[in-house]
Amino acid sequence: MAVSLTGLWAPAAGAQRDAWQHVLHPAGPQAETIARLWHFTLGLCTAVFVLTLLACAVALWRARQRQLITTSLPRRLPWLIGWAVGLSAMGLAALFAADVVASRALDQLPSAQALHIRLTARQWWWEAHYSDPIDGRRFVTANELHLPVGRAVIIDLDSEDVIHSLWLPNLHGKLDLIPGKSAQLRLRADQAGLYRGQCAEFCGLEHARMALLVRAEDPADYARWAQHQARPAQAHDAGVSARGLAVFTEHGCAQCHAIAGTSAPGRGGPDLPHLPSRSTLAAGILPNERGFLAGWINDARSLKTGVIMPPAHLQPQEMTALLDYLEAL
Ligand code: CUA
Repeated sequence: MAVSLTGLWAPAAGAQRDAWQHVLHPAGPQAETIARLWHFTLGLCTAVFVLTLLACAVALWRARQRQLITTSLPRRLPWLIGWAVGLSAMGLAALFAADVVASRALDQLPSAQALHIRLTARQWWWEAHYSDPIDGRRFVTANELHLPVGRAVIIDLDSEDVIHSLWLPNLHGKLDLIPGKSAQLRLRADQAGLYRGQCAEFCGLEHARMALLVRAEDPADYARWAQHQARPAQAHDAGVSARGLAVFTEHGCAQCHAIAGTSAPGRGGPDLPHLPSRSTLAAGILPNERGFLAGWINDARSLKTGVIMPPAHLQPQEMTALLDYLEAL
């Protein structure tokens, strides 16, 4: 059963309700290493806690026996203190060693023929540039990654504005995305599933609503998806295309959103080709359905206060033409 933590603090949208977001359900070797470290730390700290309580209980019991708490200290006290300090030092050294071993293990992932993704964080969404060294496919998508199960993935991270942090708990630990500084995450998903990631560094008003969905799927399904994404987006119906593109251009959408194969050059907002293939809108806050898309276009700020996208004020027939076009891409 999938666990949903999203409903606690943000509206869970569509597919997100079925997405895993759990550190202790690892779906790949990196997350397994982190989960092992977590269990080791919990076990050791629990042992220390229990030993400390036992020592307190024994001390109280013995003091009651003698009814002398302050005047009679056992002669073995220096010896006991020596043991306590030694054990504490050994516990800390074990935690440090486990941490170093885990950190090294996180970087060790055979990555010949890895899939490359450049993931850029923006306020408040994710842009993903795919580049596959095996089949040469390159394409851009947003807010939803598809990964082939069993294949290493190298994700290069950067930010366009402020510091963000990527956290995919089922697949890896947190890593910051800092403007002007490159960072790299290597991971592999070994279990198919839908996993929810989240920006984990406060990055402004809509920080809490900056989710990233990861769909780990069978390599054949991934190949079909990638092939579809790499194709230029074009509505099959020329009429739908012409009417929709006219609204898209006249109302300024093209200044921020790009559609490969058209003259829409925008770089400020997510690329829109193959928008229907994404399961959510607005970085995971709305299901990708016609009604929600219309509401988003009409007044995005009423749904996600901080976004730059201004209200569109379209006539009903213009909205219909635009939705038909976007849904046909
Ligand atoms: Cu991006 Cu918090």
